[in-house]
Amino acid sequence: MRIIAGTARGMRLAPVPPGVRPTSDRVRESLFNALGQFFDGGAVLDLYAGTGSLGIEALSRGIERATFVEKNGRAVATIRENLRRTGFEERAEVVREDAGRALERLREHGRTYNLIFMDPPYRIATTEVEGVLSRLDAILAPGGRVVVERGDAPEEVLLSEKGVTRRYGGTVVTVFDRSDLMMNVAVCPGSFDPITVGHLDVIRRASGVFDHVVVAVGANRVKNPRLSPGDRVRLVEKVTGDLGNVSVEVMDGLLVEFARERGARVIVKGLRAVSDFNSEFEQAQLNQTLEPEVETMFIMAAAKHSFLSSSAVREIANYGGDVSEFIPREILDSVVEAYSGTQPDLERRIKTESKG
Ligand code: PNS
Repeated sequence: MRIIAGTARGMRLAPVPPGVRPTSDRVRESLFNALGQFFDGGAVLDLYAGTGSLGIEALSRGIERATFVEKNGRAVATIRENLRRTGFEERAEVVREDAGRALERLREHGRTYNLIFMDPPYRIATTEVEGVLSRLDAILAPGGRVVVERGDAPEEVLLSEKGVTRRYGGTVVTVFDRSDLMMNVAVCPGSFDPITVGHLDVIRRASGVFDHVVVAVGANRVKNPRLSPGDRVRLVEKVTGDLGNVSVEVMDGLLVEFARERGARVIVKGLRAVSDFNSEFEQAQLNQTLEPEVETMFIMAAAKHSFLSSSAVREIANYGGDVSEFIPREILDSVVEAYSGTQPDLERRIKTESKG
């Protein structure tokens, strides 16, 4: 690997350490062509920096300062070696840290960047990448750009296809500007023990208002739910499968932390009747005290769902009553089996149950 253009042009970089997948020279060249070749000062942030080749290429092409963030110790040593070889040590800092945590610190220190590279390992989940991405607007200078490199897989769509995406062989590169990153992510939390048509109505309406909705299925060790978190996630996934901007995850910790990690500024909850108000008000105030930057917003349940609750469904199903009005059709049989008699093999059941 070599630096392609600028003051360090032609310089050979150190061997790539094991486990690191660097951007190939060819992709790097096309990428910088698309970015406009050369720069006049400014700062670059190289997240998941690997060998540091992207940030170093930017330094070589006129960017003044660089921050490299990488948590793999051998990769950090390689970045330092590459900075030494190219003579850019004085203009760079190398931070050995997790990308999310480094971001928090850079934000606290009021740092801003004109160019941010993000080349995460392909195995990192899209939701995690989006979580980091949606927090970058705070450190992106006006007119700045974020460049994300991803594997070439169909499910790799980021931020609802905002930004400009180019394909270079097996690599997909998307360039975002600041307005692309101002994504409104909401978290819809609950025990979903089980998910009802009332919950689904709230999730569906939230998905129409926000760019992305993460349904947080509380592990809720205190409440001792009937089904495992994994089984409840599978049920929610099955009924939200038609909503392209909804993802479902287990939440095993504080809601505000979960929201912060996913770059969500809003917690959305359904409110059925005045009886819900006290406890929701209390939770919203607690969460506001814990994390003032996350707002709680409520969606009023449809009148026909105002009496509906998971606990009522559990009780009716337990006595063999008819819950078909309350549970989405696609999961009705699974729910009846799970909440009536013995503990079922739900994973197998969800997979084999026919749709509709
Ligand atoms: O459907 P539920 O049972 O009303 O959902 C409750 C849930 C999951 C929203 C709540 O238990 C929760 O927020 N759990 C995460 C732990 C937490 O953050 N607690 C402090 C805020 S009250």
